[in-house]
Amino acid sequence: MKNIIVANWKMNPVNQKEALALFNSVQDGVKDIDSVKVVICPPFIYVSSFKFQDSSLSLGAQNVFYKESGAFTGEISPLMLKNSKVDYVIVGHSERRKYFNETNELINQKIKASLTAGLKVIFCIGENEGEEKLEVLVKQITEGLSGVEEKDLENISVAYEPVWAIGTGKNCGIKETADAVASIRKIIEKLYSKNTADNLAVLYGGSVKSENSGEYVKNGGVNGLLVGGASLSAEEFIKIVKSAE
Ligand code: PGA
Repeated sequence: MKNIIVANWKMNPVNQKEALALFNSVQDGVKDIDSVKVVICPPFIYVSSFKFQDSSLSLGAQNVFYKESGAFTGEISPLMLKNSKVDYVIVGHSERRKYFNETNELINQKIKASLTAGLKVIFCIGENEGEEKLEVLVKQITEGLSGVEEKDLENISVAYEPVWAIGTGKNCGIKETADAVASIRKIIEKLYSKNTADNLAVLYGGSVKSENSGEYVKNGGVNGLLVGGASLSAEEFIKIVKSAE
């Protein structure tokens, strides 16, 4: 399995010119890297403006709704994403859970609708500071994947993102990450099978930068990284991608 490095630009940058410049610099910087899958998740408004020259680069979205079309003001459907050459979608990010009150039930609907539309899902989970980690992970995974068939797990990457590590500069320790990843695989094994658990792509996210990225891939038991703040600098992001080669 190739390592996956995902850029989550969040609500940045504020104009198309900067978005294109960032995209083009990243595309240029990773064009000779075949061993890593790079996914760029810009705000929706920029999704159709990039020109792809490189098949190792894919487009992702940061959110999606669970209906195909209709009277849902302000929403974007999985089918619309698919029709706009988007391959991946982030679902369940802690900022969506916190600011937009997204529940495990809603996240589950979004995951199922995205899979039906043929999108690959980056399913984010993780505990808040002070919460009992295993309890949170079990609940988020069990409820988030309720009714998801085993065969669909090959189109899901689970991103372990402890909420206290996101945007804080306090990245999760390598050993703690490896333990969390092992717990996630155990939970998946219980729900599905050992084979599916072993083959599941698990990513880490939370204050990843080029100084710590390589260590996660080498010793953190992960198959890739979800990068927020550091993905807004092409130079820094390219270094992170290279560290996962
Ligand atoms: P960060 O964000 O890299 O800025 O901590 C990660 C994320 O929210 O996915």
